[in-house]
Amino acid sequence: MAEVTPWEVSGEVDYDKLVAEFGTKKIDEPLSQRMARLAGSQNVMLGRKFFFSHRDMDLVLKDYESGRGFFLYTGRGPSGPMHIGHLIPLLFTKWLQERFKANLYIEITDDEKFVCKREITWGGIQKAAADNILDIAAVGFDPERTFIFKDSEYIRNVYPLMLKVAKKINLTTTKAVFGFNEQTNIGLNFYPAYQIVPTLFEKKRCLIPAAIDQDPYWRIQRDIAESLGYEKTAAIHSKFLPPLTGMAGKMSSSNADTAIWLSDGPKAVRNKVMKYAFSGGQATVDEHRRLGGNPDVDVAYQWLSILFEEDDKKLKALHDDYRAGKLLTGELKQVLVDKINEFLAVHAKKREQAAKHLRKFTHDGKLASAMWEKNFVD
Ligand code: TYM
Repeated sequence: MAEVTPWEVSGEVDYDKLVAEFGTKKIDEPLSQRMARLAGSQNVMLGRKFFFSHRDMDLVLKDYESGRGFFLYTGRGPSGPMHIGHLIPLLFTKWLQERFKANLYIEITDDEKFVCKREITWGGIQKAAADNILDIAAVGFDPERTFIFKDSEYIRNVYPLMLKVAKKINLTTTKAVFGFNEQTNIGLNFYPAYQIVPTLFEKKRCLIPAAIDQDPYWRIQRDIAESLGYEKTAAIHSKFLPPLTGMAGKMSSSNADTAIWLSDGPKAVRNKVMKYAFSGGQATVDEHRRLGGNPDVDVAYQWLSILFEEDDKKLKALHDDYRAGKLLTGELKQVLVDKINEFLAVHAKKREQAAKHLRKFTHDGKLASAMWEKNFVD
């Protein structure tokens, strides 16, 4: 059976079942079209239903149309280097920010990783945080509208509001929502208050793009926000980019060979894709030519369809040629390898650039001070 929590995703995920279990809504065609219309273009990951579920996205669009607007919030737990899966919500967030001109807060949860991971040191987390912030800044957010903050540094500013949040959450809730038990350390029990706080950074509706594993926090937020004088947060959920080895679970830092790291060079990418990417092809070339391959289980094809081949026509040609046995597994993998390497080369350049302008994103500037003035009057 599949398990999906903010810390663990295993097994074949049944996304329809998750929507029912979590009480979210599927993004239907009219909603997807409405987003595209207001955005002025469709996003590939939305159009192809990789972003598939939401809470109150319809209300976010209503706020946008009325001129009230909304703000964006997302985050990253710096437990090590980032892989391509971690970039997915950030790329989508960038699209939303660009199209809807919204403020964006990005939380770096060094505290969370320290209390939830036994084997990791504080120094190691700080190194990862600095490295991750560069990758995040490289995504190319609008510096006038973006604030990246690290929990352990920003605590001074958010602690009073966090206490208000913490006072509303009891152990029965954290046990039920996250499966915490008597052995769970109290740091982890307190942490949800910090992941919830940024949803209250402005007195507008917050929209959180993330994979669906983070949704349990938003469920708690939605139970308590109004009693604190704030709005229930909205959310838009993606599926998981699968690991190279197959469609079950998610690409995860705990299995290094099955992930593509943002720092991987062209050779490493090629080796990993050729060696590990689960193939929907047949055992021999002859059989493949005769019977054709199965793109539905083929990880190279799935990655291309999630984000690496944006052109619908080209994607369809790959699909049809693979099914017909005209395109071999090695050839399909090579298409993906080239796309990933092109993408990572651009990312590396942007990362270098971002390093020179990092303070634009991380210093407690205009955006943050305006927000606290408005927010922290009782
Ligand atoms: P973390 O660091 O585990 O993950 C960062 C973001 O990446 C998403 N994600 C994936 N998306 C697609 N495919 C995958 N294989 C994949 N693996 C991870 C996660 O859903 C997440 O959006 N507690 C959080 C940090 C956090 C946060 C937030 C995340 C704090 N506030 C608000 C999202 C929104 C964490 O440890 O994420």
